[in-house]
Amino acid sequence: THEWQMAALLGYLLGSIPFGLLLTKLFKAGDLRSIGSGNIGTTNVLRTGRKDLAAATLLLDGGKGAVAVLLAGYWFAPDAAIIAGMMAVIGHNFPMWLKFEGGKGVATTLGVLLAMSWPAGLVTAATWLLVALALRYSSLAALVSFAASPFYMYFLGDENKAVLAVLLAALGIVRHHANIKRLLAGEEPKIGQKK
Ligand code: G3P
Repeated sequence: THEWQMAALLGYLLGSIPFGLLLTKLFKAGDLRSIGSGNIGTTNVLRTGRKDLAAATLLLDGGKGAVAVLLAGYWFAPDAAIIAGMMAVIGHNFPMWLKFEGGKGVATTLGVLLAMSWPAGLVTAATWLLVALALRYSSLAALVSFAASPFYMYFLGDENKAVLAVLLAALGIVRHHANIKRLLAGEEPKIGQKK
């Protein structure tokens, strides 16, 4: 329907705002594309040494996902909120402003899941944190929490939200293909380690 298209556009446009890139440019913290993984997300902003900008990137990239879901749910219908959430992550990963070369969607996915079902989102974020604290790999924490999120969403949310979590997890895992290669080769930098 018309509402689904509006929700998709809303999600995509909000999701496609590259906060990490904007903040590091605005505060002259360095060129994300030539630092670390070259990614536009929180983990790579942290590699500039600016923890404050990394924290702001996490909040804003997560926030845009949550806002997309909440606005679509408020203006349109619950199924439109699911479409807006999916499209927010697609917008982050494939922003037209960056020739469709965006990020990996970890923060935005967490924001979407939190807005869909805060208990499921919270447990997903806690899983990320536990793995990150234990093993010090941001990407591995993302992969594990993504893989677990559909189960959390199924038991703490509902079936439709679990389907969204499956799609987001699949997309997120595919987006980490270079990280997976590095992890398997033992070459992935740990959190706090610059490379
Ligand atoms: O936030 C994305 C994270 O999982 C990996 O980031 O920069 O190490 O590829 P990065």
